[in-house]
Amino acid sequence: MANGRNQLTGAEILGFIDQAVKKEFDANRRVLSFDEYLVLLAENPNQQTRGSACYMADMMDWFGVTPATEASTLIGNHFSRFKLFDLPIDGIASKVVGQEGVQNQIYRALRSFSRQGLSNKLLLLHGPNGSAKSSIAHALMNGLERYSHEPQGATYTFNWVFPVERYTKGGIGLSTYAASKDSQHTTSFAKLADEEVAARMPCDMKDHPLLLIPQAHRRSFLEKLIGTEKTNAIWETLPTYLVEGDLCHRCKQIAEALLSANHGDFKKVLMHVQVERVYFSRRYRTGLVTIEPQLHVDAQYHQLSYNKSMSALPAALQSINLFTLTGDLIDGNRGMIEYSDLLKRPVDTFKYLLGACETGSVNVSNSIAYLDTVMIGSTNEIQLDAFKEFPDFTSFKARIELIRVPYLLAVHEEQQIYEKQLPQVASEKHVAPHTSWTVALWAVLSRLKKPNSINYPPNVSTIVSNLTPLEKAKLYDSGDMPGPLTPEDRKLLRATLKKLRDEYTNIPYYEGRMGASAREMKSILYDAAQNPEFACLSPLAVLRETEEFVKRVSEYEFLKQDVKDGFHDTIEFINTTRTEYLNLVDGEVRQSIGLYDSGQWEDFLRRYVQQISLVLKKEKTKNPITGKLEDPDHALIEEFEKIVEAVPKDNPTATKERDEFRHNIITQVGAWSLDHPKENVVYSKVFPEYWRKLEKHYFESQKTLLTKMHDALLVYDTDHPSSALSSSSTHGAHGTLAQDSEGVVLARQTVNNMKSKLGYCEKCAKEVIIFLMRQRY
Ligand SMILES: Nc1ncnc2c1ncn2[C@@H]1O[C@H](COP(=O)(O)OP(=O)(O)OP(=O)(O)O)[C@@H](O)[C@H]1O
Ligand SMILES: [Mg+2]
Ligand SMILES: [Zn+2]
Ligand SMILES: [Zn+2]
Repeated sequence: MANGRNQLTGAEILGFIDQAVKKEFDANRRVLSFDEYLVLLAENPNQQTRGSACYMADMMDWFGVTPATEASTLIGNHFSRFKLFDLPIDGIASKVVGQEGVQNQIYRALRSFSRQGLSNKLLLLHGPNGSAKSSIAHALMNGLERYSHEPQGATYTFNWVFPVERYTKGGIGLSTYAASKDSQHTTSFAKLADEEVAARMPCDMKDHPLLLIPQAHRRSFLEKLIGTEKTNAIWETLPTYLVEGDLCHRCKQIAEALLSANHGDFKKVLMHVQVERVYFSRRYRTGLVTIEPQLHVDAQYHQLSYNKSMSALPAALQSINLFTLTGDLIDGNRGMIEYSDLLKRPVDTFKYLLGACETGSVNVSNSIAYLDTVMIGSTNEIQLDAFKEFPDFTSFKARIELIRVPYLLAVHEEQQIYEKQLPQVASEKHVAPHTSWTVALWAVLSRLKKPNSINYPPNVSTIVSNLTPLEKAKLYDSGDMPGPLTPEDRKLLRATLKKLRDEYTNIPYYEGRMGASAREMKSILYDAAQNPEFACLSPLAVLRETEEFVKRVSEYEFLKQDVKDGFHDTIEFINTTRTEYLNLVDGEVRQSIGLYDSGQWEDFLRRYVQQISLVLKKEKTKNPITGKLEDPDHALIEEFEKIVEAVPKDNPTATKERDEFRHNIITQVGAWSLDHPKENVVYSKVFPEYWRKLEKHYFESQKTLLTKMHDALLVYDTDHPSSALSSSSTHGAHGTLAQDSEGVVLARQTVNNMKSKLGYCEKCAKEVIIFLMRQRY
């Protein structure tokens, strides 16, 4: 310890870890004698008598819920969100985005199973390919795994323990067992040290310790343990598995052999019981099992082969055939079993499954195995449609709870699927802003269906049937109304949002069944990242890849759909998305050019509205300085109206149009204030189109300068930004542009702003500015 630090030896470190593990082990009560377990059971009777469905629903509650947002309620999604689905799901996704309806349906089904005492139906998640069915099932398994490590999620099974001979002095005659100084050993072998244990045999089914109490005596046993009053309540909610269930075949044989060897002394049987906490694990198939569709047997038994541990068994047990149970149903007992692509399996196999589900038991060889597990399957719609044609379908259907998992329809949700994965997809490349949004917008557009006017009352039917796919997408995304609607129409449409959302829910081809899946969009993203033409993984790279993708008509059903008033037009959606993207970056680039203070448009608009309201009311305004009454500012009014083209260019004196225009402006301001009673009017939000025209007007007046900037950018060397745009050298390597020319200075300033404020890099900033200048200026 020359340097004053404590140098620990390896053995000491191991010692510490040992102690820590032991401490955790004890604190978590991982291993208990049967007596100890009874104390625990009496302390927490509700927690310790839960069936798998109740356990899972409690688990969902335990992680907590987020109430529905105002925005989602507006479009008819009033479901709260289970936080469990915000956790990362190994290898699939960083969370399950959206799907609150599915979450709640699963939760309700679990609570209903729990009331019935039996998970008597298989929950079948069905939907188009890649709609998060497996992600949802895995999230539930993840949740069970984590919950089982929590005190609230503590759940138990048991093993049989057979001590070495010196405890038993030959055979199983426990009567000769010498009382040790350690009082625990007098009642149980549960905590014997390893060297004192000759054999330990788990219950293959991880059965509940209560099953050790013979079924006929369980009720009175519980009454004695926790009192009649409490027992009555608990008995009501006790799962069938604990009321009627019995030990598995092998445990039964062991219990009976021990009982007769001990001349009917049940206490002595229980001495051999080691109660052990169950930690669910998908990886080790402990209570959590995923079954892929290939054919195999779900539960089977093997005779235990004669091996060393067998020879260590007490003589009384060596003479009987002990069978080991194996299989998915066995491993998944007490937890959850996921049947991935259930309907790809031969019908006979799931006939058997559904039988197991309905009765809570399976026949294995000549014995019955009692089960308590939640079964969740998944299937795509095509398979489900085919299955519905089966003559037996109705009888199956009674034992299946169908839960639909559609594609997402809100862009901001869909976007979250990609957001976290982008850096990984892009690998070496930079990810340009708006990439996930671009992907999400096109994907959602591909999924939308045209509203059918006959489904709506006459006063809204026209509004609704005039909606473009983009307008519908925006309604679903944020409730944003199409621009040109009158206040009255807006109100009507707002009141119709839920109906719009629900219009196609009860038909086989519901909205969210057809269209691009997240899986397809991810592969587009990967391809875009590989494209050497683009320096960054950017919206433009994505749109280019999408252009290739839509050619694959033979592979994707949704690309074959007939276009209906713009809906399903996957090729046109690329243009729609590009235009929306342009609008977005247009604002960003202008802001970054920084030639003006955007507040001036707001001010200009506000003053215009004030002035025309005076004109309409035929009033004068009081000059705040002189206090004199003055006429409205007609010069300002005229300038504004000219810029935004309030009246047709070819007929500047059309007074009727002009008055209508002014009138409309005032009503729109009024409507906005009604919708946002607590806010001041934000003119850029009420009149985005005029705002844009004002800006555009301004930029047109600056055209020469912008052209210079564009030219400067063309020779802008993004790999060596300093060589082309740095003011330190007077002559660039790229020709004739002076480094301090107006265009170069502006380009440098714009790129820098886009980098520092908006997350662009040199390369995608340049790409975007050039693209925008070409398209718009
Ligand atoms: N709502 C969502 N939240 C998070 N990821 C999603 C969502 N929807 C789809 N995905 C992504 O799409 C891919 C497919 O998801 P998943 O495997 O869960 O779908 P599935 O419905 O089981 O598909 P299949 O029908 O092919 O079995 C995954 O990469 C997943 O991350
Ligand atoms: Mg799947
Ligand atoms: Zn057993
Ligand atoms: Zn970039």
